[in-house]
Amino acid sequence: MSTSTDPKVASLFQPLSLGGLELTNRIAMAPMTRGFSPGNVPGKDVAAYYKSRAEGGVGLIITEGTFVNHPQANGYANVPAFYGKALDGWKAVVEAVHSAGGKIAPQIWHTGPARRPGIEPDPSLPGIGPDEVVKDGQLIVRRATKQDISDIVAAFGQAASDAKRIGFDAVEIHGAHEYLIDAFLWEKTNTRDDEYGGSIENRNRLAVEVVSAVRAAVGADFPVIFRFSQWKQQDYHAKLAYSEADLARVLKPISEAGVDIFHASTRRFWEPEFAGRPETLAALTKRITGKPVITVGSIGLGYEFRGTVSQDDTDPFRNPNNVDEAAKELSAGNFDIAAVGRALLNDPHWPNKLRTGRRGDIRPFADEALATLVR
Ligand SMILES: Cc1cc2nc3c(=O)[nH]c(=O)nc-3n(C[C@H](O)[C@H](O)[C@H](O)COP(=O)(O)O)c2cc1C
Repeated sequence: MSTSTDPKVASLFQPLSLGGLELTNRIAMAPMTRGFSPGNVPGKDVAAYYKSRAEGGVGLIITEGTFVNHPQANGYANVPAFYGKALDGWKAVVEAVHSAGGKIAPQIWHTGPARRPGIEPDPSLPGIGPDEVVKDGQLIVRRATKQDISDIVAAFGQAASDAKRIGFDAVEIHGAHEYLIDAFLWEKTNTRDDEYGGSIENRNRLAVEVVSAVRAAVGADFPVIFRFSQWKQQDYHAKLAYSEADLARVLKPISEAGVDIFHASTRRFWEPEFAGRPETLAALTKRITGKPVITVGSIGLGYEFRGTVSQDDTDPFRNPNNVDEAAKELSAGNFDIAAVGRALLNDPHWPNKLRTGRRGDIRPFADEALATLVR
């Protein structure tokens, strides 16, 4: 089962019990958007894609972002919805993963200001965000009204309730990467002067309301994961918080609203978060909230985050054995689960190969994997 024959990575293969969630190991599949759900409904190939990761030994699958039932929630072509007909597709995904002994959580998502007019389901609708954005005379992002906010909060609650009903093992709220929730959290994209803007506490309000709605919808025993990031798609060096004290002001209210597990999204899991301090974002998050934490960022990669989502990094980075470093960090108590993204794209059997000392057999990630597996 989960014991590793490679002592250097044994900590990654300890089981973990989190409330009702029993994981056979500490490796999660990171959420990765795919454009393979025509009509926004995940089909048999999507179920097979996730099933093969469960067969490959990953402890917890976090799905690609899947958008909640709000007219402006989607930002991309052919990505899956999380309402209506799509739920039948998701139920089949859950059954396929469970049949292979895996555990799975959907990543529920509102793309907010990342959406542009022209995108399904209703191409006439612009994006929606904390602030209005007009480009070349065209409204591309509408400022959310209080009614919009309460509709969106309710949509997240409904999605979480549906996740539980159709058999998912947990739910992850996408609060990262400049999508709707993060756009409210970040001072650069939120210049509102009502109770949803201004102070950290006000910018936090949407996240807190979403977590509260999700918690109310699923009850006490269903694990709720909250993913957040300092980095933004338009700025890898952005910060929500510049100190541990400010990070605590961001995370504590969100935690208290009902989060069970935080997912601290970084591009390189080993990097200290604040200058002059050794702690990573994951370690700080654990200390601040006292909750289990998922780390992520370049685990198992021979070079750092680039590919389709690259921005300013062109220098190759060589650290092929950073998975040993991840195992040590886990043993040191700096996080509880390691999420792996790109390394699992090219080799679904990455966890089992690592566990059984077959690192040499791992098919390494290459940017071409993004072209063939992700549009
Ligand atoms: C193709 C691709 C799609 C992604 N889609 C999502 C997504 O839907 N939701 C999300 O929170 N992060 C998304 N990410 C970020 C990953 O979850 C992860 O944090 C990132 O790839 C770093 O992990 P890695 O270095 O192990 O790949 C995506 C990354 C890639 C490469």
